[in-house]
Amino acid sequence: MSPKKFHLGWFTNFSVDEWNDPLASSGGSPWDGEFYIEFCKALERACFDYFMIEDTMMVPESYGGSSRLALKGANQAPKHDPLPLAAVLASHTRHLGIVATMSTLAYPPFLLARASATIDHLARGRFGWNIVTSGEDLSAQNFGLDKLPEHDLRYDMADEYMDVVNALFASWEPDAIVMDRETETYADWTKVKPINFVGKWYKCRGPLNTAPSPQGRPTYVQAGGSEKGRDFAAKHADSVISVAQGPKAMKEFRDDVRARAVKFGRNPDDIKLLWLFSPVMDATESGARIVNELGMSQDRFADRRLALMSAITEIDFAQFPMDEPLPTDLTTNGETHSLKRFAQLGSGKTLRQLIMEGGKGGCVESIGTPDQVAAHMGEIMAEVGGDGFLICNPFHRNTRRYIAEVTDGLVPALQRRGLVRTEYTKKTLRETLLEF
Ligand SMILES: Cc1cc2nc3c(=O)[nH]c(=O)nc-3n(C[C@H](O)[C@H](O)[C@H](O)COP(=O)(O)O)c2cc1C
Repeated sequence: MSPKKFHLGWFTNFSVDEWNDPLASSGGSPWDGEFYIEFCKALERACFDYFMIEDTMMVPESYGGSSRLALKGANQAPKHDPLPLAAVLASHTRHLGIVATMSTLAYPPFLLARASATIDHLARGRFGWNIVTSGEDLSAQNFGLDKLPEHDLRYDMADEYMDVVNALFASWEPDAIVMDRETETYADWTKVKPINFVGKWYKCRGPLNTAPSPQGRPTYVQAGGSEKGRDFAAKHADSVISVAQGPKAMKEFRDDVRARAVKFGRNPDDIKLLWLFSPVMDATESGARIVNELGMSQDRFADRRLALMSAITEIDFAQFPMDEPLPTDLTTNGETHSLKRFAQLGSGKTLRQLIMEGGKGGCVESIGTPDQVAAHMGEIMAEVGGDGFLICNPFHRNTRRYIAEVTDGLVPALQRRGLVRTEYTKKTLRETLLEF
């Protein structure tokens, strides 16, 4: 019997590539989008499900107590808006899903629904929205708030936000556009109705003023790991992205999200869980181990990891000595699951140990030839149950070389094993995700 196929996504953001390496890519200024167009064409050649663009909306100041280290190392800043890039990428591809992050903190629901419908048209049904509520006070302060709402409250607000945008997407019946030449009627006004939404936090009249998009609504992607986050994902998401550590935790997380989906009356197979995965590869296993050691031994590796953790938790990780156990009382109002996973509070591990263990960010470590990594991915999926991987550069920056290792080394190896698709057969991103 042939193995169950799994899905592939890529996780990155619209930020600086590996600009000062011997094998630098686009020279540190990928802002005209050309580097990303090329990137997505490579992913499309490899039949990826989607390209996902992460986002945050601040210049971080937590790492080292000011913006100095963030800007010096281009850690989380500069970072450009994923939405215009998504529109450009959509028009340069034909099959690949394009997922952009938009925060419920920043976008009024009407604006988000309108932008999503517009880009879903430009993408001919391949647009996805990574639903986030933002995790930083610094972001909140760019949108008129003094502080981010508390973690669980953000999810309650986001739940109501989803009610508004879903009502807006449904404010046009799918067949509202009739284009009847005889009666000179473009749209049937009886099929386009206000939503008159009045909730606890949001108020919106509607209807949406865009034509119904090919998917009706964008594909929803979400990454909640907490209790509230898992419920939110199970209720709304078409695809969940996760950083659960190791096959046991991955399986527990997947089974849990699927059970919650049933509780909300959904078919659990309609939710595809993709696991963050950062393999290190080379033509030989020993070569891959050398690449791994070289990558991890550079000061910039630790620096990038700590800068990222500081930015998304607003804890200053530069204050802790590298060779002493982390304090056990660290808390965040930001990304709770990422903190829990990275810090392993109570384990007594030093910061240096934590960076070496979790610094590449993936759910499972994998180092070897493309074929060895492909076999490993197959084993992980057999153990976890599904549904695929979200590839991310192990050393935190995009390079043409790494993209090629994946698209021209790893993916063909996976295809030879019958583990991933060899061609696209569906039109929209949601259909592509539901193909298997
Ligand atoms: C793989 C992954 C990607 C994420 N991408 C973003 C992002 O682009 N922007 C953002 O503000 N939050 C992002 N988050 C944070 C989540 O949206 C969520 O707010 C966070 O995981 C906290 O939820 P939790 O406490 O339920 O885990 C991401 C989280 C994970 C694990």
